[in-house]
Amino acid sequence: MNVSVPKETASGERRVALVPEVVERLGRGGVDVTIEASAGEGAHYPDADYEKSGAKLGDGYSGQVVAKVAPPSAEEIGLLRRGSVLIGFLAPLTAAETVRALADAGVTSFAMEAIPRISRAQSMDALSSQATVGGYRAGLIAAQQLPRFFPMLTTAAGTVRPAKVLVLGAGVAGLQAIATTRRLGAIVQAFDVRSAVKEQIESLGARFLELDMGLEDAEAAGGYARALTEEEQQRQRELLAVEIGKMDAVISTAAVPGRRAPLLVTEQAVKNMKPGSVIVDLAAETGGNCELTQPGETVVREGVTIAGPFNLASTMPDHASSLYARNVQALLELMVKEGELALDFEDEIIKGACITRDGEIVHEGARNAAGATA
Ligand code: NAI
Repeated sequence: MNVSVPKETASGERRVALVPEVVERLGRGGVDVTIEASAGEGAHYPDADYEKSGAKLGDGYSGQVVAKVAPPSAEEIGLLRRGSVLIGFLAPLTAAETVRALADAGVTSFAMEAIPRISRAQSMDALSSQATVGGYRAGLIAAQQLPRFFPMLTTAAGTVRPAKVLVLGAGVAGLQAIATTRRLGAIVQAFDVRSAVKEQIESLGARFLELDMGLEDAEAAGGYARALTEEEQQRQRELLAVEIGKMDAVISTAAVPGRRAPLLVTEQAVKNMKPGSVIVDLAAETGGNCELTQPGETVVREGVTIAGPFNLASTMPDHASSLYARNVQALLELMVKEGELALDFEDEIIKGACITRDGEIVHEGARNAAGATA
């Protein structure tokens, strides 16, 4: 089997789908890799290292399997051969046009986002590996933007109180933001609508923020949060506005798959914060958790710095790529039998991650999303 890796073309994308170390391991399993020249440059993997690991330099789209990071553009889809297999982030629940174009192009596509979150697929979980990077970076941005110390300091000039940080949404990114801001010495509280995360928050040395929402638990299928009703959301925003006013920094990561990010931080909540405080809104890409977030920008509103960064994983491309490449390797290993491509559509992971096949959109969520925008 042969796999091609193109250079990513999306604006600001510095990651690469496979790194030399993984190329070498795939080679041992009978998988040949062709890599487009300078594909690893943004993540500091030179062409020479790929060649040493056994990869050939060449066309990034000619393989039986094409491994990518970002969803393909229309031009990139045009370069894919009919009958080829594409692996990458495809945003299957929101990028209806991309999904339809992949089906029309006769590409068998697999979305990293759609890999079922079962134990057997943990090594392939790219949502988690990239959210880990995002959460870590968000913690650093908060510390960097705050005009105060994170840790408590006892100095000859007096004692400095530690910063108070609130993390909203304690999924993979939120938990990493908690761990990072804790390591920097902040006092951290966190909130999530899934009560199962209380223990995880506490195990990281943070406090679970209890809001009197009259909510039992909002965990839905697959361990994800369900969308709250409008009334529940209203109550949550009001209670949060008070708590947010006591914080130096808020890192928000709340998301519901396939939907706009829930609005948690109102303009009033921002007004309640002390001037100089910071909000890092990791949900900016899906509309933002904060009412005043400008997606993709850092702005100052009511004296509060509000960062709404896109694609934080790409700001730490070396490790983001190496973790992603291991996720892709694990998925590829499931697709290869004795060095040949062998897709077993009876397998829960292969079936669950497949978005388009034989000219059709076969993934239910993607089909519904595409239908809704047709
Ligand atoms: P996500 O990125 O979809 O959402 C982030 C967090 O926001 C979630 O914890 C969610 O509960 C929370 N949230 C949603 N609406 C909210 C609201 N209104 N207020 C406050 N918080 C809100 O989540 P992520 O990180 O992708 O994880 C989702 C689930 O998948 C988790 O239960 C996680 O434990 C599970 N998971 C399972 C894995 C496995 O078994 N292989 C691997 C990774 C995650």
